[in-house]
Formats: sequence, C-alpha cells, structure tokens
Amino acid sequence: MINIAIDGPSGAGKSTIAKAVAKKKGYIYVDTGALYRSIGLYVCRKGIAKEDKEGIKATLPEIFLELGYVEGVQRVYLNGEDVSGDIRLPEISMYASAVSAIPEVRAFLLDLQRDMAKKHDVIMDGRDIGTVILPDATVKIFMTASNEGRAKRRYKELLEKGVDTSYEEVLSDMIKRDKADSSREIAPAVPAEDAIFFDNTEFGIEESVDEIIRIIDEAIVGRG
Ligand code: DC
Repeated sequence: MINIAIDGPSGAGKSTIAKAVAKKKGYIYVDTGALYRSIGLYVCRKGIAKEDKEGIKATLPEIFLELGYVEGVQRVYLNGEDVSGDIRLPEISMYASAVSAIPEVRAFLLDLQRDMAKKHDVIMDGRDIGTVILPDATVKIFMTASNEGRAKRRYKELLEKGVDTSYEEVLSDMIKRDKADSSREIAPAVPAEDAIFFDNTEFGIEESVDEIIRIIDEAIVGRG
C-alpha cells in the first residue's frame, strides 16, 4: 500500500492540498484531526471541562467513531451521527487540542487510523502520522507556512462559513493551539527525522499540489 504522511501545524494547508493530491493520485484522504475533533465535540456537548482529564477518559467507552466517504469526501460519524460540520467550530478546535494531549485518547484512535492505511492507499494528515501512526510511511511530509499566512487562510475559511470572529482572535487561538500541540509530552506535533519539509507560504494551491505530487512520485521511484 502507498501511505503518505502529512504532518504540520494548523492552517498550513494540509487538508486542502492532501485532498487535491488524493483525487489526482487515486488515494483515500484521511483527515485524522476530525477524529480528535469528534471526541472534543462529544466532551463539549456533555459539558465536561477541557481540563478534566479523568472526566474525558471516562467518556471514551461511550464513543464510537467511523469514517465514511460520500462522493470521495470524508465524513465522520460520532455514534452514528454525521458530525463533519459541527466539529469545525473554533471552540471545538480548542477541545480537540485538549483531548489530543491525553494518552488514552490517542491510544483509542490508533487502530482506526492504522487500519485505514493497511487497507487503502492513503494520504493521511495530522500531527503524529510520520512519527507514531505510520512510522514506515512511503513518504513523510512536514508542511508549514508563516503564522500570518496560516491565520489569514483560517480566518477566510471561518468567514466563508459565517462564523463570527476576528483575524486577531484566529491568530492568537492558532498560536496557542500550536504551542500546546507541539510541546505536549505524548506524540508532539514535530517533524519525523526522515520528513521532507515543505513551506508553502509563497505557494498557491495548484503549485503546492504539483510539488507534493513531485515529492511523492520521486519517493515511489526511489523506493523501486
Ligand atoms: O488538524 P486539526 O486542526 O483538525 O486538528 C485538531 C486538533 O487535533 C489539533 O489541535 C491537534 C489534534 N490532532 C492531533 O493531536 N493529532 C493528529 N494526528 C491530528 C490532530
């Protein structure tokens, strides 16, 4: 199987670029952040505080997650409910980051992610795909862009969805979340030793997609 790992901070364009690459190459795109977001949503709906690690752990046996694909687009089902829209709210981003620092939550999601990669050619995006989930991935890419560039993209996306926020708020939430994700003890969002760096601050989407496909094709040829 071809397994492409894409890691990097929020708003670096991972999902937009990975989705387009998946379409062109015939891979399945797996957005692993959606899984942490779904747990975050469940916990938030139950009124459990982000800081309440024991409370969060206690909810895990109540949670059943599934990934599905509708016309090639990933949907995530939380106990049978399609929550793909609800998990995108900014408040849920902070919940997702908080639950993702709990080892039991990460262990809970491990098999689901690895099973996808065992059964399909995948391009999987997240924070620890190259370091923990798929250490033998065909190619590992660490995608970044400047803080301002990332915040601008996120702000635009949220405005398009009708979310009431400001650029300053998006930037400060993003920096806070990235700091938490990259400094946590378990599976911090850091590049794998053998990852290829790709900073797309100066690149458009099309150019980024072409560059990633070039990196993948080169790695597949190199692997023989
Ligand atoms: O990619 P995203 O913004 O949808 O992810 C939401 C949060 O989930 C992010 O702040 C950190 C966490 N996450 C993680 O810890 N590991 C992953 N593989 C994917 C996401």
